[in-house]
Amino acid sequence: MSSQEIPEENLPSEQGTAHTAGGGAPARTKLRAGEVADDPFADPGLPAHKPRIQDIDERAAKRSERTVALLFTLSMLSTIGFIASFVAFPVDKIVYVWPLGHVSALNLSLGLTLGVALFCIGAGAVHWARTLMSDVEVADDRHPIEAEPEVRAKVMADFKAGAEESVIGRRKLIRTTMFGALAMVPLSGVVLLRELGPLPEDKLRKTLWAKGKLLINQNTMEPLRPEDVAVGSLTFAMPEGLEEDNHEFNNEIAKAALMIVRIQPADIKDKRELEWSHQGIVAFSKICTHVGCPISLYEQQTHHVLCPCHQSTFDLSDGARVIFGPAGHALPQLRIGVNDEGFLEALNGFEEPVGPSFWERG
Ligand code: FES
Repeated sequence: MSSQEIPEENLPSEQGTAHTAGGGAPARTKLRAGEVADDPFADPGLPAHKPRIQDIDERAAKRSERTVALLFTLSMLSTIGFIASFVAFPVDKIVYVWPLGHVSALNLSLGLTLGVALFCIGAGAVHWARTLMSDVEVADDRHPIEAEPEVRAKVMADFKAGAEESVIGRRKLIRTTMFGALAMVPLSGVVLLRELGPLPEDKLRKTLWAKGKLLINQNTMEPLRPEDVAVGSLTFAMPEGLEEDNHEFNNEIAKAALMIVRIQPADIKDKRELEWSHQGIVAFSKICTHVGCPISLYEQQTHHVLCPCHQSTFDLSDGARVIFGPAGHALPQLRIGVNDEGFLEALNGFEEPVGPSFWERG
């Protein structure tokens, strides 16, 4: 294709032509038919600035200002909503929200309000920049990166010009609401400090076990009878009333899980263990007292159970005392008996906290 066939608007400008008023970029020079550009890679310059509706119509500018202010105000309201959610919703309140299902009301409201607060600040800033701040493109020639006095003076001058062009001085409503929104968002972080406390109080000391609670076989989900527990077997049990679809199931089973074994009464060395058993059936916490792994390995000849995490070993025929490993103390025992219908039941809750010994210091 010859240069005569190239549309005029696609031809490059000539080098060394006049610069635009914006500064530095050479203006585009039309080539007459038959002329060939000296430098086909010359900077074509910046396109002419097209004013926006807000640049020429003060009513449109006012509308934009109100929109930006509305977004910043929404951000402030959302931040207030965030703080109010912390006060209003208890940690354990669960609500059904389609399509999420059952969710924590506190977490949902905190996420929504904080998300809206941050989104509105961002959307307000973007709308402000796109409609009210100056959109005149300027080209600046490269220069050495040195903090010469003239450069610093130019930076300051540019900064002042930018502040003027952003209309922050003139648009007081935007300035006030923006400062308000920016000042309030960090308050969300202050209320989050509440999550550092409080101490767990007695929550870690209590399990669902209480007088009269039946022992439910975790495999069959049926109440256990003494005849279900054979000598040498290891059975896992949980308290009646604890359902797997309960949202607190994981928290509760992590504390209440039991190991049931049957030992010949004559082989039980610990007097209290024998008293708290039923015909040699003993119930101990399944949660290791080192750092809380579930214990699952039982050696029926020695009556030892082994924690798979760090090999703490407990003697179930001697009060579940620690005979090896890093665990701090014996496994707690649950006192059991048989009710009128012949089912195994708890005669009390655990008398000491289950699981890692450091919980007792809480
Ligand atoms: S958790 Fe059981 S030995 Fe470490």
